Amino acid sequence: MQSKTVKAVDWINDQLVLLDQRVLPKSESYITCHDITAVIDSIKTMVVRGAPAIGIVAAYGVVISARAHHENNMKPLQLDVYKNAVLADLNLLAEARPTAVNLMWAVDKMKQCFIKTYQSESTIEALLTLAKTIHADDIENNNRMGALAANLMASTSDKPFSVLTHCNAGSLATGGYGTALGAIRAAWKQNLIDCVYADETRPWLQGARLTAWELSQEGISVCLNADGAAAWLLANKNIKWIIVGADRVTANGDVANKIGTYSLAVLAKYHGVKMMVVAPSSTVDMALKTGNEIEIEMRTTEELTQVAGIQMAPIGIEAINPVFDVTPATLIDAIVTEKGVIENPSTQKMMALFG
Ligand code: MRU
Repeated sequence: MQSKTVKAVDWINDQLVLLDQRVLPKSESYITCHDITAVIDSIKTMVVRGAPAIGIVAAYGVVISARAHHENNMKPLQLDVYKNAVLADLNLLAEARPTAVNLMWAVDKMKQCFIKTYQSESTIEALLTLAKTIHADDIENNNRMGALAANLMASTSDKPFSVLTHCNAGSLATGGYGTALGAIRAAWKQNLIDCVYADETRPWLQGARLTAWELSQEGISVCLNADGAAAWLLANKNIKWIIVGADRVTANGDVANKIGTYSLAVLAKYHGVKMMVVAPSSTVDMALKTGNEIEIEMRTTEELTQVAGIQMAPIGIEAINPVFDVTPATLIDAIVTEKGVIENPSTQKMMALFG
């Protein structure tokens, strides 16, 4: 099913076009990635962000790389040179950001396709078809997860209730429709929800700039709050679920997501509020036993010490900027995937669904 929600990633006239999320909601501007360097830069600099979206962009990036090296290669094609040049690009692409496994997952899928087809005339066509399939499947999965999540909420909480979300796990972070925001969209449609509280999500403000924008565009009742207000909201508002996306889910059900998710899960437990993670199977990494093995991305301290380029903290102050944290499975009530819902996640339940 094609979503009518905003498009962060598009393939138009054989070009990769990205909505520049760094400048939303002030301006809606688009960037065309003409080469693999531009694709990698757009992931690193957060023109595009969100685990599934960066996987999809990487898939299109492989098409761009293979097409360029194919065109630039000598005639007749020097197959080994061509192959090595593309594989070198793929390595750089996979390293663009370390925490979201969707990136490595997509690059790996594309790599297998390339290795299988690079000797044939139809390699670019095969790669593009696969990239488009990865993109379309993501939207399909999000719709399915939305329906599953709404069912779960309907069967466990009296309506109407409020929910709280962190970061942006919406259309902007995926192929379309969203994971956490897909669940919220589906629940909103069924009149289960009366208000979505959106954590501003310091320091990059994905909640204030992106989630608030995305939900208000569709007329979904959204109320922005400072991250530090979450405990007060849980104690004073009718919030029944905290709903977030994920960047990586390990074999025991631990979840890496935007920094601050772990503290929300601790708060949720204290207040008797349920914690839901919505993520497609491309976010599941069964190769890692627990969340301790996940590499946490550290970004520049300027993201903390400055706001929109204006220095806020003392110049030269020491700061630390881990941009993801790991929520232990024991603090999670449900992981919703397109393959089904896992309540009170454990290695055994994860193995049954993904083993
Ligand atoms: O640094 P970001 O904006 O890429 O972080 C995004 C998140 O943490 C999202 O919650 C996660 O990727 C899930 S997106 C469906």
